[in-house]
Amino acid sequence: MQPIDDGTVPMTNDDPVLEITDLSKTYGRRGVRAVSNVSLSVRAGEVYGFLGANGAGKSTTIRMLLGLITPSSGSIRLFGQDLKYGQPSRRLGSLVDGGAFYPFLSGRRNLDVLARTQGLGPERIDDLLVQVGLEGAGKRKVKGYSTGMRQRLGVAAALLNDPDLVILDEPANGLDVAGIQEMRQLIRSLAEVHGKTVFLSSHLLNEVQQVCDRIAIIDRGVLIREDTVEGILKTEQRFHLVATPLEAARAALAETWPCEIEGEALQVRAETADAPEILRRLVAANIDIFSFAPHQRTLEEAFLAITGTETAHA
Ligand SMILES: Nc1ncnc2c1ncn2[C@@H]1O[C@H](COP(=O)(O)OP(=O)(O)O)[C@@H](O)[C@H]1O
Ligand SMILES: [Mg+2]
Repeated sequence: MQPIDDGTVPMTNDDPVLEITDLSKTYGRRGVRAVSNVSLSVRAGEVYGFLGANGAGKSTTIRMLLGLITPSSGSIRLFGQDLKYGQPSRRLGSLVDGGAFYPFLSGRRNLDVLARTQGLGPERIDDLLVQVGLEGAGKRKVKGYSTGMRQRLGVAAALLNDPDLVILDEPANGLDVAGIQEMRQLIRSLAEVHGKTVFLSSHLLNEVQQVCDRIAIIDRGVLIREDTVEGILKTEQRFHLVATPLEAARAALAETWPCEIEGEALQVRAETADAPEILRRLVAANIDIFSFAPHQRTLEEAFLAITGTETAHA
């Protein structure tokens, strides 16, 4: 961990790096309640995903974390200290809106300008270009960069001050499949190789599932789940049952678990730990079981089940 020169207190590994409590934001006097009583905490060294559909309140939350807008209520603690509006923490680095660069300057020169505005020297720029995979492109003008290259330059810009916590708002936005994969590797390396804590937002379920240790799901300003990716997938497991008579199987289970007949099979919504009990019930009801298999859900399915289909596609 970097020497602490901004008065924040030294922390143990178990203290949250970021702690949000009952955070709300209403735009304007009678405006939209964009964020509503959100509480979450991010631990040192983890990649934390903030997942929600467009308009869910992710950028509003991030703007509050960065001290760019004031919360209507609630508190934000960063590195054990209350965040003050207009005084961004020096231990934070961020990428919002893909980063803003001078198109006619090279990537390297852009970083140089940004470093100066932060009172930093150019010493780290070469290493950062390597770290984000732009070592061969540093001398080229940014106007010739692909979206993926610009986003990676944005990550390099977020790292200029060697922050402990990196906040990335939709880092995969506008990237193609290859670009998304590169961004994923870059984000994992920030945590695994460089010991950073990463907080990223996304509306891309796949991305969050593959890159994050824990996630929070926000829906219309309200935080509806905070858990590990496995935790979210594990609860409300679905089982696919092929048995006869199917209607009798449904009758034997429906009292305890939500069941639906789909084609030749019965879909049973239950937790993984319920599997033995489900099978015992079926056997007791004299039902012939041909197959019984857990259906591995993607985070997308879990997300849709949690938020409801309409909002996830909004
Ligand atoms: N500056 C603003 N003034 C008024 N309403 C806003 C402003 N910024 C965002 N909103 C509204 O707040 C809600 C959340 O937006 P935002 O935080 O940008 O969501 P996300 O980043 O998850 O897409 C949306 O309804 C949006 O229209
Ligand atoms: Mg946004």
